[in-house]
Amino acid sequence: MPTGRPPLVPLRALGAARGVTVGAAVNGRPLGADATYREVLAREFGAVTCTNAMKFGPLQPERGRFDFAPADEIVAFGRDHGMAVRGHTLVWHRQNPEWIAALAERETAALWPALRAHIQAVMEHYRGQVAAWDVVNEAVADDGSPRDTLWLRALGAGYVAHAFRWAHEADPGAPLFYNDYGADGLGPKADAVHALLCDLLDQGVPVHGVGLQMHVGLGRLTPDPDAVAAHMRRLGALGLEVHVTEMDVRLQTGSGPLAERPAEQARVYERTLAACLSERACTSVTFWGFTDRHSWIPSFTGQDDAPLLFDPQYQPKPAYHAVARALSSQV
Ligand code: XIL
Repeated sequence: MPTGRPPLVPLRALGAARGVTVGAAVNGRPLGADATYREVLAREFGAVTCTNAMKFGPLQPERGRFDFAPADEIVAFGRDHGMAVRGHTLVWHRQNPEWIAALAERETAALWPALRAHIQAVMEHYRGQVAAWDVVNEAVADDGSPRDTLWLRALGAGYVAHAFRWAHEADPGAPLFYNDYGADGLGPKADAVHALLCDLLDQGVPVHGVGLQMHVGLGRLTPDPDAVAAHMRRLGALGLEVHVTEMDVRLQTGSGPLAERPAEQARVYERTLAACLSERACTSVTFWGFTDRHSWIPSFTGQDDAPLLFDPQYQPKPAYHAVARALSSQV
């Protein structure tokens, strides 16, 4: 397949034929300013996630004052182009407004109603428009213990179950997900996520799916595809749906010659997609962006990188072709 030209069948159609929604996280700035960004997004992807616009701080910067406009633009773009929307995210320890941090420190009792009111307002605003909500994001620490966050400290571990119950009350039709990173395959953190989900289900908490973020990379950050498939299978056995929610593949963590890394990266994408396709529970794969022109990785790691499917000029990379190949392969 020649690079530089996309194949005739876009990823979203290849995915749809296999029962897998293929999505991308979207950044409001280029969406408004860059026609090529819009064109590639609409052509290739069947779902959008707001990179930041639906987080607590951006949505409710001051208590009781909501700023839905930036997220609404992304949702409208999705609707206009027949795309699903993943809602990300209602409860997280980052990107919270100042007033939430202040309540958590000084007025713990007021934090419960504030969280409930946020969940209700946001879910009611987007009722019927969001195909999956990441209700709680990253509540488990890397060693598998409950993550030490403002929510845990102020409210105790019960905040997770409450968030799901309130979300279900606000929009009983919305599929509700628990989302985390570093729990994509097997290991202590994945075990802890599995145990958390078992516990929530035992308590009758309305939770319907698990998001595997899949922020991975070459070398030590390459996931074992068999472990990913096995984890998906055990989550599926609980009756849960599994989405890959934020996939990107860092080159900088690799050790081979730089010139060989794009091909290596393509293999990581291909095998991970194949793991999803092999498991009935896995119904959606979203990439955390689509062009290396707009990726969070360089600011996160402090290093230049190229973790996505298209290069900064919107040309498809080997990773793109690998995803297309995985989605086209016979089972
Ligand atoms: C990231 C965004 O991409 C950045 O723009 C922002 O500065 C920080 O958050 N896990 C998540 C996402 O669940 O919300 C994060 O997104 C990446 C890690």
